[in-house]
Amino acid sequence: FDKDSYRKDLIHWFKEEQRILPWRENQDPYRVWVSEIMLQQTRVDTVIPYFNHFMDKFPTPESLAQADEQEVLKAWEGLGYYSRARNLQNAVREVVSEYEGVVPDNAEELGNLKGVGPYTRGAILSIAYDIPEPAVDGNVMRVLSRILRVEDDISKQSTRKLFEELVSELISEEDPSSFNQGLMELGALVCTPKTPSCMLCPVQEHCRAFDEGVETELPVKASK
Ligand code: ADE
Repeated sequence: FDKDSYRKDLIHWFKEEQRILPWRENQDPYRVWVSEIMLQQTRVDTVIPYFNHFMDKFPTPESLAQADEQEVLKAWEGLGYYSRARNLQNAVREVVSEYEGVVPDNAEELGNLKGVGPYTRGAILSIAYDIPEPAVDGNVMRVLSRILRVEDDISKQSTRKLFEELVSELISEEDPSSFNQGLMELGALVCTPKTPSCMLCPVQEHCRAFDEGVETELPVKASK
């Protein structure tokens, strides 16, 4: 497996083919954070108008920290999973009071914020700060389980850890942001769950599952 060639092909494809999405306009860590929280349980097409409205109302950490909780929940209405909004506001208040409104750029401080788990932490560090950290969600596990033919059960916590280790080895040191977003984008646009578009895949030549004809059997998910 040629890591360098795989990285180069993935990043090149991402730069050419990525969707234009509002949270990709810049690398503002606050925008990346809000987008990743919204995207955790909600589809991209649904999130877009909510994200734009939220950023109009609360364009900075300070503005979100100062808002009434009711106002924040109102802006979240329809997205569901309202604890996401409450945790986000609590965590942003901490960023304003403890870090002068600057979203931390290290795993320790980020990971201690309410609602910021390993995925969100890795997404902020890599996408906003260009730090080579894994950001492994279901899409990323699907893509990598196919590329590397990993047959471990993705509903297990230990398998997510395994994928974090694999991404840590594979990730580009030069462009961690495009590498991680490339994995996410490939999972969304090409390496889809039921009928992946392998004929259009920019990394087909690196994919063990395609080579061995087992792409639709991966990832393995034992519990529901
Ligand atoms: N899903 C999770 N994070 C995403 C992102 N940054 N862009 C598009 N889809 C995503």
